Amino acid sequence: QHRALVVVAAGSGQRLGQGMPKALVDLGGRPLLAHALEAMSPQAAPGLELELLVLVLPGEPEAREKLAALGADHARRTGVEVVVCEGGSSRPVSVARGMDAVTDHARRHGWDAERLTVLVHDAARPLTPGDVAHRVARQVEAGSEAVVPALPVTDTIKRVLPVEETESRAAGVELQAEQVRETVPRAELRAVQTPQGFTLAFLQRAFAHLGDIADAEAEALTDEAMIAEALGVDVVVVPGDARALKITTPADLLAAEALVAEASG
Ligand code: CTP
Ligand code: MG
Repeated sequence: QHRALVVVAAGSGQRLGQGMPKALVDLGGRPLLAHALEAMSPQAAPGLELELLVLVLPGEPEAREKLAALGADHARRTGVEVVVCEGGSSRPVSVARGMDAVTDHARRHGWDAERLTVLVHDAARPLTPGDVAHRVARQVEAGSEAVVPALPVTDTIKRVLPVEETESRAAGVELQAEQVRETVPRAELRAVQTPQGFTLAFLQRAFAHLGDIADAEAEALTDEAMIAEALGVDVVVVPGDARALKITTPADLLAAEALVAEASG
């Protein structure tokens, strides 16, 4: 059994609005990617024992160079093999590129795709404890093809009517207003995090099924587990961690800064 981690870090960080790829944004004195790598290192996550780390990076040369240097530094300090590749126009395309890099590596080393656990992780979740990755990997190795870490939901979540229907029903109300259709029972809901774990064999089948990913579809495909669901493959949920929060907006970055300050003080 072998373990590889693919970190997708090719996004541009539009919603964070710092004019640089999110993976390069500073969090308590270090770029997001540096935190994400550190958390998955043998020192921070003993037992995780990754044999390969694939970094999927932006094409823009300056950002790519800075992020690749963080990868090279990580390889030097940990002895884990680090491979860099270029991402695509959407997250699923970036994950597919990372998977191709894992496939190349597995072929060269004669690793069986059925016995290779691939953890797919967002650089945008830099404080995810290594424990989470370890739990996910162990569950894949216990026989689950697709595994996601998740937490119970604390908000009350409501399903709303499509905008056209809302407009006809709520005439005279502001365009922004929506109408509630129902409250989704909270006990059934989970907020899903990364890393998500799959056998390489499953990921290869999943992306072959997807074929050429149209941009519109790709935006709707927010994780690989969705492909498993579409294929009728059982997706197993293991406990996530509050520290695995995703940094999307400036408010999320503030929350992450508070966690870093707490951990170091
Ligand atoms: N990602 C990627 N390639 C893309 C888009 C996203 O590798 N073409 C990665 C991001 O780097 C991030 C993760 O997927 O680690 C989740 O994406 P998101 O939070 O949307 O990050 P960004 O796309 O960078 O942010 P934004 O959508 O605000 O531009
Ligand atoms: Mg994005």
